Amino acid sequence: MANAPVIGGIRLPTPFLQAPMAGFANRAFRDIVREFGGCGLPAFEMVSAAALVLGREMSDRLWGIEDEPRPFAVQIWDRDGYRLAECARRVADLGAPIIDINFGCPAGKILKQRSGAWLLGDPAEVGRMVASVVRAVKVPVTAKIRLGLSKDSITAPEVARCAEDAGAAALTVHGRTADQGFSGAADWGRIAETAAAVSIPVIGNGDIDSPSRAIDRLRTPGIAGVMIGRAAISQPWIFAQAEALRLGLPLPASPPPAVQRDILLGHFAKLVDKFGEDGAAVIMRRFACKFAAGAPGARAFRKAVNESRTAAEMSAAIERKFPGAEAIACGWAEDDALPKNQDRCLASDGCQEADADG
Ligand SMILES: Cc1cc2nc3c(=O)[nH]c(=O)nc-3n(C[C@H](O)[C@H](O)[C@H](O)COP(=O)(O)O)c2cc1C
Repeated sequence: MANAPVIGGIRLPTPFLQAPMAGFANRAFRDIVREFGGCGLPAFEMVSAAALVLGREMSDRLWGIEDEPRPFAVQIWDRDGYRLAECARRVADLGAPIIDINFGCPAGKILKQRSGAWLLGDPAEVGRMVASVVRAVKVPVTAKIRLGLSKDSITAPEVARCAEDAGAAALTVHGRTADQGFSGAADWGRIAETAAAVSIPVIGNGDIDSPSRAIDRLRTPGIAGVMIGRAAISQPWIFAQAEALRLGLPLPASPPPAVQRDILLGHFAKLVDKFGEDGAAVIMRRFACKFAAGAPGARAFRKAVNESRTAAEMSAAIERKFPGAEAIACGWAEDDALPKNQDRCLASDGCQEADADG
């Protein structure tokens, strides 16, 4: 099984990386992940180079970068090598120890700009873009890709070789094609084939939904680490659990509802500080919805969260769903179940906006 990877001279503390997730992987979320422990590399939400370089407001996505504990990665995207390099320079100046470039986002608005996953159809161009960023910064540059545009156009091994030749320090491969979106299953055989094509560390990604699955996937030939996305939204403790299993320690229990309530309330308080009540409510609706997905009473909870108009209403909805021990004792709890399957929430109310990313 893989040990923790070294990315351009930076040894990650564990081989379990947190996926960049637009709309979710903000500073408050990364802090929660770090608090539980076990995560080798937290990642920011992807940052548009055009928006940053052209001065449009984009700073929210870099929330907290000044005092973010290391290591961490900031992901950037564009189709213009010059802007990408300029963005990387600015983000590195702000303190990013690792810059990641997105070549995997299949969202229509990104593909239309011939960016993200669109570039998987032109491996040489991926190489040129990576080279342009590598020349611009002193920190390690990595790339995140999918298998290709479609099953008839699997380009990941070639894209990986171009990225490596251009100086990429590591590569993450999400085991789906762009046209799959999130349908079907991630193909870890293809991820292994991509890893075999290069000698830089390759991180595998896709469908890890439990600590034991993370360990299984870490055994994939040639893999230097695994990245976890959706499961980390509802189980930010999954990294700590996976790392315990890797070290042969007993599996730490998932936190009880009262602790989960405190996590959500603490998260919400940070969002209110940063974005105000309205902005915080928008983000919190996405989170709370995924956090409770799959558990009995999730639908009622989603409704309550979506209808919350003030911080007090939002907090009350969270407290009703995840009661403290005293509330359970007096029968106030809606249900006692821990949230399990976050995926069912992907197509439901309040959650859609960010789901097409990556
Ligand atoms: C809501 C959401 C937002 C995402 N945003 C990004 C992103 O900004 N950059 C990126 O490279 N991938 C993004 N992704 C893709 C994830 O990083 C990851 O590749 C994908 O979810 C598969 O991993 P998983 O099965 O562990 O979730 C996003 C995924 C989701 C669900």
